[in-house]
Amino acid sequence: MGRNDRASFGSKLGVILASAGSAVGLGNIWRFPFETGNHGGAAFILVYIGCVLLMGIPIMIAEFVIGRRSRANTARAYQILAPGTHWRWVGRMGVLAGFLILSYYSVVAGWTLEFIGEAATNSFAGKTADGFIAAFNSFTGHPWRPALWLVVFLLATHFIVVRGIEKGIERASKIMMPMLLLLLLILAVCSVSLPGAGKGIEFLLRPDFSKVNGDVLLGAMGQAFYSLSLGMGCLCTYASYFRNDTNLPKTAFSVGCIDTAVAVLAGIIIFPAAFSVGIQPDAGPSLLFITLPNVFQQAFGGLPVVAVVLSVMFYVLLALAALTSTISLHEVVTAYLHEEFSMTRNRAAWLVTGGCIVLGIVCSLSLGIGKEYTLFGMTLFDLFDFVTAKIMLPAGGLFISLFAGWYLDKKILWEEISNRGTLKVSVYRILVFILKFVSPVAIAGIFINELGLLK
Ligand code: PFF
Repeated sequence: MGRNDRASFGSKLGVILASAGSAVGLGNIWRFPFETGNHGGAAFILVYIGCVLLMGIPIMIAEFVIGRRSRANTARAYQILAPGTHWRWVGRMGVLAGFLILSYYSVVAGWTLEFIGEAATNSFAGKTADGFIAAFNSFTGHPWRPALWLVVFLLATHFIVVRGIEKGIERASKIMMPMLLLLLLILAVCSVSLPGAGKGIEFLLRPDFSKVNGDVLLGAMGQAFYSLSLGMGCLCTYASYFRNDTNLPKTAFSVGCIDTAVAVLAGIIIFPAAFSVGIQPDAGPSLLFITLPNVFQQAFGGLPVVAVVLSVMFYVLLALAALTSTISLHEVVTAYLHEEFSMTRNRAAWLVTGGCIVLGIVCSLSLGIGKEYTLFGMTLFDLFDFVTAKIMLPAGGLFISLFAGWYLDKKILWEEISNRGTLKVSVYRILVFILKFVSPVAIAGIFINELGLLK
């Protein structure tokens, strides 16, 4: 297929919703609220917004430029823009990161399907706090149930991706993103109207600047990368399907705003409800699958129908958020195989789905019957999470920033950002400065901190 007759998104709204769909995911719902609650509430939110504006959005624009200019998958993109150099390894690392993230992310995404069923059949009713823990452990330790849901989730992702960009990814995002926003709003309103909810909002939103230290700053940057899907060519791949008149800075700004708004709303769902029933919310998957079902049960259990409806809504919300992210991860690898190995899109997608099913099942088993097999003290699931989120994404972000700031011809950067001079971009110089100096230094900081090299 020639570069000119490559598939493309059909509308501006489609571009924004698909990119925001990639960004909005499980990361917004379990990680952001907890980080905020623990790191000074509104003070953390302000630092986070600073990171999104100062680093997240500029790097997103850089990924958009690389993708749209090359009109190729993320590995080929560097070969086109920097022929004969080692930059192609940045793209290849992104493809590998996408494959690994998709494998373990789908495990948790699959759990959301089991929990929709549990919520719908009112199985949370009457369980004690220990009962929720036991039920979760017995589910994740089950030899085939989590694997079954993982396969279902990956097949759903697969069938959207094989339908192509406009009919598959764009259409699915246009249906799922508004549903997701509606569910978020309904759940947030229900949560803040619970008795005693005010304390939860206060905990989340009261700024406590005494808690802002270097750790918080670096934590906020790491969260911004993961949450905005940066550093592995996901948005670069999507941008290769953008039209020539897509306004790259404006799209990046919209995606950053939607992603942040969803994260804050998730906090407004979780904290007021948890405080209202006196349960301390914790981090990670256990928040979503142990603490929150308990919170919903206690908060709304007096009205079983309401408890059922709201908890079903919550798990549907999670499943939608996860699905719009998994399709973006799948697309990175599918586009790569399709274009680099001249196989049909269908065949490429099946290879990705099949590979992720195998790897995902191994990850899933590593949390259950294979718990005692560890590598570097981590289960395979934790290892994949660590290697991708803490090493590959920041490293990818660092290289993308250096590539756009130092290597790429400024004429190309300007042409793409301004749509060949047709848009006025007043922040262009600041953007170049950030890409050249601010992001590389900041990311190097995250890296050193996350890997504990300072301690
Ligand atoms: N941004 C997604 C989330 O917040 O859950 C996770 C993710 C998706 C990370 C796609 C990276 C990526 F390329």
